[in-house]
Amino acid sequence: MRKVLVTGAGGQLGLDVCDVLSGEMPPGAAVGRLPAAKMGRISGYEVIRATHDLLDITERSVVMEAVSTIRPDVIVHAAAYTRVDDCEHDQDMAFAVNAVGTRNIAEAARRYGAYVAYVSTDYVFDGASDRPYVEWDIPSPISVYGRSKLGGEMELDGEWSAVRTSWLCGARGGNFVKAIVGAYRDGKPLKVVNDQRGCPTVTSDLAGMLGWIATERLPGVFHVTNRGAASWWDVARFIVQELGGDPNIVQPITTTELDPPRAAPRPPNSVLDNMALRTADMDYMPDWQDGIARLIRALDET
Ligand SMILES: NC(=O)c1ccc[n+]([C@@H]2O[C@H](COP(=O)([O-])OP(=O)(O)OC[C@H]3O[C@@H](n4cnc5c(N)ncnc54)[C@H](OP(=O)(O)O)[C@@H]3O)[C@@H](O)[C@H]2O)c1
Repeated sequence: MRKVLVTGAGGQLGLDVCDVLSGEMPPGAAVGRLPAAKMGRISGYEVIRATHDLLDITERSVVMEAVSTIRPDVIVHAAAYTRVDDCEHDQDMAFAVNAVGTRNIAEAARRYGAYVAYVSTDYVFDGASDRPYVEWDIPSPISVYGRSKLGGEMELDGEWSAVRTSWLCGARGGNFVKAIVGAYRDGKPLKVVNDQRGCPTVTSDLAGMLGWIATERLPGVFHVTNRGAASWWDVARFIVQELGGDPNIVQPITTTELDPPRAAPRPPNSVLDNMALRTADMDYMPDWQDGIARLIRALDET
């Protein structure tokens, strides 16, 4: 049996990726509606779940030892220091995990012959463009997190996969969808920024495509998001509507009106055009509204 090692296996994406690679459906998955062979039905792999406590990617010797012992065929590298605002205050930690940690994974993969699929971010772009970003646009990150994740991309060999995604929300982990569902049900006022546009993406959909790209060993950069673009305000309105409420209770605000202000600047436009998938007729990702509606149902079931 082939082996796939998943870093960050305890994170919201890592948990769903492990499900998919084990042939199971993560919560909220689009069961029966996606090309099963390509998304969500991967078989023949033993999945090694490298959670943070088992494998700290900043420890070079630990990474080398783990990869030399396990000898994975594929590494899905989803571990990262993801607290975007904290990265502004702790640049060394951000780079230690996201850039040096990826260097360690890459070195071990090279030495022991593993294929790497790295998860990257829309925040490698500055957001100044007035159109969606394609895979071949030149990154220009404006936050420490974005710079450190780009640093991780720079550690990859050209024949590996870099999967850039955005605005993740899954059933297991803290995220925007859970925050809005909770605030709405608690009757709290909803003020949401309307001047950042991106591609909301549910982890169950991404996990299928990521698992497929990794196990098929598709080289190069891929933008992988749910289809369609939105502002956070659009997303919050949709969530309230799905919960049976009046979307007009969601008040739009600007990023500068956020209280407290966020430490890290966000790209105003981080919409990712999934051009590499689309032009290869592989754009199987559902609309973001479809994904978030499934996620809300999954949250109620768990
Ligand atoms: N969330 C988003 O909106 C978003 C958008 C674009 C791209 N991404 C990328 O998608 C990937 C998955 O993100 P996510 O949302 O699933 O984040 P997450 O829930 O924070 O998962 C990241 C995981 O990495 C682990 N980790 C942190 N430092 C580590 C270290 N030194 N060694 C090993 N593991 C470590 C974390 O463990 P602890 O919790 O124990 O620290 C956590 O389990 C990341 O590469 C992220 O950069 C995320």
